Amino acid sequence: MAAMASRTLVTMALPYANGSIHLGHLVEAVQTDIFVRALKAMGRDAIFICASDAHGTPIEVNAAKVGIAPAEFVARFHQEHAADYAAFDIAFDTFYTTHSEENRLHAEKIYEKIKADGAVEQREVEQFYCEVDKRFLPDRFVKGTCPKCGAADQYGDACEVCGSTYPPTDLKAPYCVLCQTPPVRRRSMHYFVRLSKYQDFLRQWTSTKGRLQPEILHSIDGWLSEPLKDWDISRDAPYFGFKIPGEEAKYFYVWLDAPVGYLSSTDHWARAHGRTVEEFWAADADCDVVHFIGKDIVYFHTLFWPAMLHASGWKVPSQVHVHGMLTVEGAKMSKSRGTFINAREYLDAGLEAEWLRYFYAANLGTAPSDIDLSLSELKNRVNGELLNNLGNLANRALSIVYARFEGKLGRMPEASPNDLWSTAAACEQEVSAAYLRCDTRAAVQAVLSLSSRANEQLQRTQPWKLIATDRDAAQAELTLAVNVARVCARMLAPVVPKFAAGVAAQTGAPLRWGDFTPLENAAVGEPHPLVRRIEDADLAKLASRFVAAAPKPAAVPAAVPATARKKPAVEELPPAVIDLAVFAQTELRAGKVVACERIPKADKLLKLSIDLGEAAPRTILSGVAKAYAPEELIGKTVVVVANLSPREMRGEVSHGMVLFATGGPRGFTVVELSGEVPPGTKVK
Ligand code: 2FM
Ligand code: ZN
Repeated sequence: MAAMASRTLVTMALPYANGSIHLGHLVEAVQTDIFVRALKAMGRDAIFICASDAHGTPIEVNAAKVGIAPAEFVARFHQEHAADYAAFDIAFDTFYTTHSEENRLHAEKIYEKIKADGAVEQREVEQFYCEVDKRFLPDRFVKGTCPKCGAADQYGDACEVCGSTYPPTDLKAPYCVLCQTPPVRRRSMHYFVRLSKYQDFLRQWTSTKGRLQPEILHSIDGWLSEPLKDWDISRDAPYFGFKIPGEEAKYFYVWLDAPVGYLSSTDHWARAHGRTVEEFWAADADCDVVHFIGKDIVYFHTLFWPAMLHASGWKVPSQVHVHGMLTVEGAKMSKSRGTFINAREYLDAGLEAEWLRYFYAANLGTAPSDIDLSLSELKNRVNGELLNNLGNLANRALSIVYARFEGKLGRMPEASPNDLWSTAAACEQEVSAAYLRCDTRAAVQAVLSLSSRANEQLQRTQPWKLIATDRDAAQAELTLAVNVARVCARMLAPVVPKFAAGVAAQTGAPLRWGDFTPLENAAVGEPHPLVRRIEDADLAKLASRFVAAAPKPAAVPAAVPATARKKPAVEELPPAVIDLAVFAQTELRAGKVVACERIPKADKLLKLSIDLGEAAPRTILSGVAKAYAPEELIGKTVVVVANLSPREMRGEVSHGMVLFATGGPRGFTVVELSGEVPPGTKVK
């Protein structure tokens, strides 16, 4: 982040009150919580704002299915979410709701400002309408046959088989997902925000240094390179949300009032704490607003939301930090494979929240790369790093002090250049910087290396033997080890607050960031293990849910004796052939993958940016998202079919194809060129 303001307001994406929190939600919650805890530990004025995202068609429909009012439905999920987040020590300053009077008022005011700015338009749109359910059908509520490839049972926004996107009204043989009957077409007046009016502002906002990660900026630049499409901000009744002022049966689309929840929840918190929303959100407030989000909602947070704030005169965010998605044992979380794990299920299986917090922190860096939860890695990291390295340092030193020195620390050893204690001070600088740039992986590594050094020193000086010949020197070494363990614990407190609190309690003094006055001649408490070891039995409960995800080998047909083999009744046909002249026209070129990302709501597609030695990298879509994580392809030199006509899929245009071999353990294997082949080189 660039120069910091004197206070920081931090948010994570508001979870829909429409289902339980799962381990994927917790990646973001843990990352955001660590950031806020680190800021607070460093003495900064920071607040952590969150709320339930309580509106929209799915919530309204699901509430009706269970026969309760939507407000009651979201209130129940709100309670559940609050309890789950608390169990993982996610320390919100407020966890409010978008279904609040504050949010209604702020959403209306913002809308009125955008309208006064001349950016709201009304026009008719044609949509599918179900006469049985008496409602317009949003994209996910209508299914039918893909107009491009003819695949049956595809949603109204995109085909999962061929990857193309289309307006729902293009679907063939459409039917309502709720009642299965064919809908009719009906026209309705909608409200649109003319986003292109804010395009120049958005170009400038997105390109400000430190605002966005380079990987994210790349796709945003693509969106901004063409006039932004108008944004439909209205929905017809029945809907669960806020009515548009002056309308009786039209509502704000959930994505209009959802981000306003950041602001209205701040307002709610500020009033209860003698503060004001303006301290944080006024255009000139001395505050950084930092949003943490997943890759799937980048468009909303980097285009719609800053445009809304800018148009209505509020502060625009200083930074939007995007994290990757969670996979479990190498694959996307899946209900059928049993790898879709709710927060509550994890805890009910007897696993510790801090294990997961530590694991996520140790894996999350600054880039929006996906992270994989492998149970064996979880065990190895927690047992090998948190327990055997850091936990052991504190436990070993404290146990000897307790048993052999009547629980009293002595003096620190004489200071010398580059000694362990001065390294600890330098380490805290490094860790602070890592937390501020959201590099928890680097922070954890720095703490571990300091702790390793302290363990090595204990091993070398062997105070448990030294005690026989030089009792004071032995006590000094142990005092140093205890003090270094305290520094390590406080540096890791944003990640594992309970572990750190245990170190504070056992050493009898609070941990304070930046405090390098060592604890000397002080009494310590009776040491206890600071963290429970992960046993295989702990993981077995979760793993027993996983259905084998590895591809099964094809079933081998039973052997038939050679004599019994029949000749084919007809001559077997040779495989289909293409003319050599046609094949010769195919232009294959070497291309270097410079960026790669998933496409929201397109499970199979990756969007690659490929350098072919042309003026700008080309966008090429490839249906291999199930086989490759985006970052695995970045940097590879691949083979591109470079002379295909552009093809539109899921709202993106692909300018070529990347070659993959079918087969291999993942189903697809990228054809990679080894050696130094410059981008653009012809492949023959
Ligand atoms: O994608 C989601 O889960 C949304 N509920 C996130 C909303 S974030 C903010 F804009 F409210
Ligand atoms: Zn219907």
